[in-house]
Amino acid sequence: MTDRVSTDLPPALRRALDLLIDPPANPDVSKGYLDLLGDEGAAAPPKNTGAIQAVWASGVGSMLYDNAQAFARRVLSAWQLPIDWLNIPAGGVALDVGSGPGNVTASLGRAVGPDGLAIGVDISEPMLARAVKAAAGPNVGFLHADAQKLPLRDETADAAISVAVLQLIPQPEAALAEIARVLKPGGRVAIMVPTAGRIGEVFRWLPNGGARVFREDELGDIFEELGLAGVRSKTVGNFQWVRGKKP
Ligand SMILES: C[S@@+](CC[C@H](N)C(=O)[O-])C[C@H]1O[C@@H](n2cnc3c(N)ncnc32)[C@H](O)[C@@H]1O
Repeated sequence: MTDRVSTDLPPALRRALDLLIDPPANPDVSKGYLDLLGDEGAAAPPKNTGAIQAVWASGVGSMLYDNAQAFARRVLSAWQLPIDWLNIPAGGVALDVGSGPGNVTASLGRAVGPDGLAIGVDISEPMLARAVKAAAGPNVGFLHADAQKLPLRDETADAAISVAVLQLIPQPEAALAEIARVLKPGGRVAIMVPTAGRIGEVFRWLPNGGARVFREDELGDIFEELGLAGVRSKTVGNFQWVRGKKP
């Protein structure tokens, strides 16, 4: 790492760089997050080209979502975060996959404390810009990266969370495999997705803006196939939480 890089980097991103599989020689942190999505060519994971992700990838859409989720977190129990269950050690590393406007990442930052590191990963630059403004700090940093190809080394995270994201990912099983890969043994993961309950089967066949509708046991089965233990699914209204631990 050059002197210029080490002095320009926000502290959280400097620490995040140490956890990367392939740290860039000249990290681009010009927008406040670490940009790791260059021209990946044929190696790039598939992209969601649906209407919903297009909204989250726009400036206006990210602003609207930011306000809507803040309201949902205040009034809907399904949006409350299982921070205690995640059992994040003080000084540990916690990962927020699809961090959006960054307030889940900020909660992880409070859980890890000043000596820990909370990392938010998102594919949308407008969302990342909002997250940096609202939540970046000495122990909270954001990465522009794809959940289907996390840039972190194996077994670097003590806990991971992903809230209302997997339904937008073309290969959710790849994203879950990546989360399982980067979790340390004993690390916990909690995922929340919207569901359509019993009428979900109908929605699977209707135009849905590129958002996938998961079957009741679909995510829990993937967790188990990935070797996660103690897998539990709970549906609250139109949202499902799935939790598991890496043995
Ligand atoms: C509905 S928002 C949820 C944001 C946040 N988790 C929250 O609870 O407020 C979905 C987020 O997932 C991000 N996303 C979608 N596909 C992604 C991918 N392949 N990799 C990383 N982030 C992705 C979107 O850009 C968006 O910020």
